Amino acid sequence: MKRAFLIFLVITLPVFLYAQDLNLIPYPQQVKLLKYNLPLAKHCRFYTNNNRFNYAVDYLNEELAFQDKHAKGPLQKILINRDTTRGISGAYTLSISGGVISIQAPDSAGVFNGIVTLLQLCRSAKTEGAKIILPGVTITDQPRYQWRGFMLDESRHFFGKEVVKKILKGMAFYKLNRFHWHLTDAQGWRLDVKKYPLLTTTGGIGNFTDSLVSAKYYTQDDIKEIVNFAKQRNIEIVPEIDMPGHATAANHAYPIYSGGTTPGFENFTFNPGKEITYSFISDILKEVKGVFPGNMIHIGGDEVTLGIKGWENNPDVKKLMNERGFTDYKQAEFYFLKGIADTVQKLNCTVMCWDEAVAAGLPTNRVMINWWRQDKPTVLTEALRDGYKVILCPRLPMYFDFVQDSTHRSGRKWGKLYNSYTNVYHFPENSLSDTIYSHGNVIGVQANLWTETVVSEKRLDYLLFPRLAALAESGWTNISMKDDRLFNERLRMHLNYYIKAGIYYYDPFNPGYHKEPVDKKSKQEIQD
Ligand code: ACM
Repeated sequence: MKRAFLIFLVITLPVFLYAQDLNLIPYPQQVKLLKYNLPLAKHCRFYTNNNRFNYAVDYLNEELAFQDKHAKGPLQKILINRDTTRGISGAYTLSISGGVISIQAPDSAGVFNGIVTLLQLCRSAKTEGAKIILPGVTITDQPRYQWRGFMLDESRHFFGKEVVKKILKGMAFYKLNRFHWHLTDAQGWRLDVKKYPLLTTTGGIGNFTDSLVSAKYYTQDDIKEIVNFAKQRNIEIVPEIDMPGHATAANHAYPIYSGGTTPGFENFTFNPGKEITYSFISDILKEVKGVFPGNMIHIGGDEVTLGIKGWENNPDVKKLMNERGFTDYKQAEFYFLKGIADTVQKLNCTVMCWDEAVAAGLPTNRVMINWWRQDKPTVLTEALRDGYKVILCPRLPMYFDFVQDSTHRSGRKWGKLYNSYTNVYHFPENSLSDTIYSHGNVIGVQANLWTETVVSEKRLDYLLFPRLAALAESGWTNISMKDDRLFNERLRMHLNYYIKAGIYYYDPFNPGYHKEPVDKKSKQEIQD
């Protein structure tokens, strides 16, 4: 028996180790190494006869162009087959065998994921002279979660098209497929709305560190360009128009819709007691829908309590309370959210909200919740009990504006707790019970990056990498496959890609390699 086991180990171990040598992040569910490798000319161009997927092959060629930008090398075909019997959305089989590269997948998400795996294999392939040696493999793979998201706050600081594209490229490389774009908040309104030009020309002035900086925002053409760029990379963009709180920039532009002021939170809310507020927002959402052809709109709903005292002296809110028999301002808040959720659904879109909305009693059908308050686990269980679809993005460990090492000086903490890449990698099983993370309505995970302390691209890089790689495995990889040592080995190789791409990453293996960029120190998180 023992002998048989030893023989088994001797036979399987080298294959297993070698398989993990493939520097793939997220690591696939099943990798079978085959005997014969496939040598390819370094400057080959890939193509497919399945024209529907030209965009995915174009992406592959573009990402590999660094190998030889201008060469028009030999052509290498990729056989692409859509086969709807082949598993869940995003699943794929990639085979490199007998000189043939083939991808089979049930849908275009799966085809793209197969292409990304091929890209990573090409990037890490050994070279021999003018050839790269692709390993012979059969990779059968599927995601653990359908929603693998990342949120960027561009209200507090605006980064612009090129930076957003760079993030989208990083996301695509890690098979992350949802970009939640926080476009409006107290410090700036970043989305051009043609019917209300002051939203950007006035509301786009300022940021968290300089209230007088010139207006910065995206035109509708910019948005369309970015939406298309994302789509080519299997990423859907979910725009967030935060309301009724965090609305200061909009109220600055159009004070008539303000719900009033309370110390420290000037014009923080929209006025829920005025009919015209609803038509104003409805007009905005129609334009949002026009430029974001996806079918999801995030309406915020978070932290309204910060400004709700402003409603106490507001005659419109008083009138609403009297007419509806409300006894608590929370009822006015939830009345507002219900009205807006209804508008979004009439636009044929799914509504997304932060987890405060669970208490609002929205219809659960076509409403998704971002659970972010890790100190309020009952909100998560209530959301699931009520039948909402839920995305897990708790501050610990999924807020990337938190520091990632105890010695870091800029960024948030929760008491002494912070968000190391290892904690991200092991999420959600390191934080939640299996009845939660395996619940059918938990559709995925997401990291959020708030930018109060992030002014420079350097700091943005530092907070994102390598946590984005860890996020990829959090969303993709089954628990049984997770292994710190093996992940670290692969991550070390990926740091080389960051160097080539000029990314200012945090190196957890050599923390001094890049100094922590400090744009702005922040106070420790205060529990609300
Ligand atoms: C949030 O962090 N206010 C969603």
